[in-house]
Amino acid sequence: MEIETDFLVIGSGIAGLSFALKAAEAGRVLVVTKRERKESATLYAQGGIASVLDAKDSFDEHVQDTLEAGGGLCHPEVVKLVVEGGPERIQELIGLGVRFTRRAGRQKEFDLGREGGHSRRRIVHAEDLTGREVERALLRACERNSRISFLEHHMAVDLITTEKVPGRRKAWRCLGAYVLDLKRGLIKTISAQVTLLATGGVGKVYLYTSNPDIATGDGAAMASRAGCTIANMEFIQFHPTCLYHPEAKSFLISEAVRGEGAVLKLKDGSPFMRNYHAQAELAPRDVVARAIDHEMKVRGDDHVLLDISHHSARFVRKRFPNIYQTCKQFGFDMSKEPIPVVPAAHYLCGGVLTDLFGATDLPGLYAVGETAATGLHGANRLASNSLLEALVFAHRASQQARKELRKAEARPALPAWDVGRAKDSDESVVVSHNWDEIRRTMWNYVGIVRTDKRLQRAKRRIAMIQEEIAQYYWDFLVTGDLLELRNLATVAGLIVQAAIARKESRGLHFNLDYPQPSDAWKRDTLIRKTS
Ligand code: FAD
Ligand code: SIN
Repeated sequence: MEIETDFLVIGSGIAGLSFALKAAEAGRVLVVTKRERKESATLYAQGGIASVLDAKDSFDEHVQDTLEAGGGLCHPEVVKLVVEGGPERIQELIGLGVRFTRRAGRQKEFDLGREGGHSRRRIVHAEDLTGREVERALLRACERNSRISFLEHHMAVDLITTEKVPGRRKAWRCLGAYVLDLKRGLIKTISAQVTLLATGGVGKVYLYTSNPDIATGDGAAMASRAGCTIANMEFIQFHPTCLYHPEAKSFLISEAVRGEGAVLKLKDGSPFMRNYHAQAELAPRDVVARAIDHEMKVRGDDHVLLDISHHSARFVRKRFPNIYQTCKQFGFDMSKEPIPVVPAAHYLCGGVLTDLFGATDLPGLYAVGETAATGLHGANRLASNSLLEALVFAHRASQQARKELRKAEARPALPAWDVGRAKDSDESVVVSHNWDEIRRTMWNYVGIVRTDKRLQRAKRRIAMIQEEIAQYYWDFLVTGDLLELRNLATVAGLIVQAAIARKESRGLHFNLDYPQPSDAWKRDTLIRKTS
């Protein structure tokens, strides 16, 4: 079955929906998304969106904070355009009906939050459920637009490039994607003039992650298979504070809690962050996560504590209603007692390399949001710059993609998906075992602190798993689980390859064999499949 559209958007988080709304001004948009449409990392974003919205703040300061967190690898021109694009994009969200929290008694002013690495209060938020509010408003606007349609429970399998069209000698280009209808188990061919990857992050490649289950690195894996350049995969951000509880699934405790003065303590109640950084709890995230990891390892502790109980219960409940309630469900009253926390994998700073308009090196293919490496984050993302980046780049990419649509040529007929010799599998246990092994390997050997020996060990294990998956992939009919496993194995391989290549420590990549940064490595790590 072949479906035609002008713009194919893969993913329905902040990046995909923001792009869809603007692209729809020029043509038909089809959004494919692998779960129900709201399910995304965006939905769970807590702290908010960083932007210069206070008269006392300045673009220069936000730029400086971003560069400092990024450890020398941010692209300054990208930082400038993202920071300066922020206020207009925030106003657009308000125009779509996003209700950001205002200051008590001063309804015209935003209640700006503070997070690590920021020299000022500049995080606009909707209580502690910013993502839910943004996703709600974007979805509502998209659903009201007659040019935008959705295919839920549809998972992109692979990009279709000119190489896949028999006899076609035209220049390398993206022509759409194969998409698996997860409910019916059949693969559809989608032909598009412009394709956007907005598939989010890779958190599920690690055993412990703040990310929802959709974060399996599908965008980076598909782009890599298609021959795109992938950048900076070694820079995986670990969020310092997720709730430590066997059933809490690494529930995030927003950095905004530390922004309101919460203190990190050892089990005996002593604070420790001043020993690591002058900004203590509000140091950049890489510093805080490493400090916690170190304290836990030297003491053999399974968690540290986060204490905001110096504030009144009224303040805590009002400022952090969702976090307060969730902790309560797990038996902790954060307004009265410290809560146990641990770091967990949170954000991919690298991804599919793009230019200043979100275009990848495969013509016709754009990447926006967490799946993209735009040059904004460098070696470590500044808190709450992710939603901001997605908004600014969705806007820029949509402008460029609309121009591209005007120049579009007649489309070729695309080959249908070839099932080959594949048959139904009765060994789904292989998928779950390999999935588990990848996540444990990455957590144990490619985590917050790395060594050459551990990275080599991970490389060997991931390579073996990749081989096994490849065989399984060609022999059996594809399922959502198998596709996600294949993508996880691909991104795990990319992360390990990039981490082995970087012979220094910088930002989020810390290798005990090379503990210092080196000017020789002050560059992006670029990987491109050669075969
Ligand atoms: P997502 O929102 O993750 O959306 C990806 C979409 O792609 C989903 O719809 C998914 O189903 C779909 N998809 C994936 N693969 C496929 C496929 N193969 N086929 C079809 N569909 C697919 N950042 C901030 O700036 N501020 C915050 O306060 C903040 N808080 C956070 C809190 C949590 C708990 C988490 C996990 C992250 C937080 N982040 C925050 C990071 C931020 O939320 C994400 O980086 C951002 O939402 C990513 O948006 P996105 O549109 O790129 O991807
Ligand atoms: C948080 O609320 O701590 C998450 C912010 C982010 O990831 O930018």
